[in-house]
Amino acid sequence: THRILLDCDPGLDDALAILLAVGDPALELVGITTVGGNVSLANTTRNALQLREYLGIDEVPVAAGAAEPLVRAPETAAHVHGAEGLGDLVLPAARLAASEAHAVEVIIETLRAEPGAIHLVATGPLTTIALALRKEPRIAEWAASFTIMGGSFTRGNASPAAEFNIYVDPEAAAEVFAAGWTVTMVGLDLTLQALVTPEVEARMLTLGPIGGELVVPLATYYRNRSGDAFQGQAVHDVCAVAYLARPELFVSRPARVEVETRGEFTSGMTVVDFSSDRPNAIVPVELDVEGFWDYAHEAWGRVAPT
Ligand code: BDR
Ligand code: CA
Repeated sequence: THRILLDCDPGLDDALAILLAVGDPALELVGITTVGGNVSLANTTRNALQLREYLGIDEVPVAAGAAEPLVRAPETAAHVHGAEGLGDLVLPAARLAASEAHAVEVIIETLRAEPGAIHLVATGPLTTIALALRKEPRIAEWAASFTIMGGSFTRGNASPAAEFNIYVDPEAAAEVFAAGWTVTMVGLDLTLQALVTPEVEARMLTLGPIGGELVVPLATYYRNRSGDAFQGQAVHDVCAVAYLARPELFVSRPARVEVETRGEFTSGMTVVDFSSDRPNAIVPVELDVEGFWDYAHEAWGRVAPT
């Protein structure tokens, strides 16, 4: 079993990643921390709280982290995820509040309590993780592993060069990649291999209530607003959690990753050197797409909403 602390900005695909972690019996979600990204911190935190209760995992702490990037003005992706962050999904208001502790404290204390036991996964901008590292650099030793959805080696989505999570806070990402741990970087080149095609959607609808109520609305909201030429919505963040559970579905290569923070046209680009003799990252490059959807389908199918 892998125990996961998830730092996220739900977010359509962040929500699907939470669902995957809840559904897979080999994964245990030990905490959710939120960051401002796709939408404001207030919205990502509210979405995490509502999902927690909808999924009946009240025991999993939810703690709010950084509202804004380290030095830059915030930029959101509400044009992808909807103004509220979960498309047009409306979940019941949450009864329970977020933890009083800040996400930075929760990350440090959760990892400190059991060094080598907790896998840290980040699927939003890396601001909160960078702040936690500044306060307690040893979290880089204590985390059993560290996996992000972010970056790429051939393209961007927020700009031609940069992927959204890195683009939003490149200074934070640069600090995180330099922290001395190995970062598993599940980037766009990987995540764009798994698109929600009409076939994938049809299969999602066979999941029962969870399929029609949650999975399909989250997995198709953006596609439904895009043109006919659009190949299918990606589920980026799901790939990062899936990597932990099923690394054998991925072909991965060691690399040195540097984050561009000053480029006029390339700010937030991840510069990936696969031939470096000083690797600081593992970069999944190829996905067994069929195996991935089989796995996700099985995990999502086990989620029983309350
Ligand atoms: C990433 O950006 C966000 O919009 C998604 O949630 C994902 O984490 C993809 O570039
Ligand atoms: Ca995200």
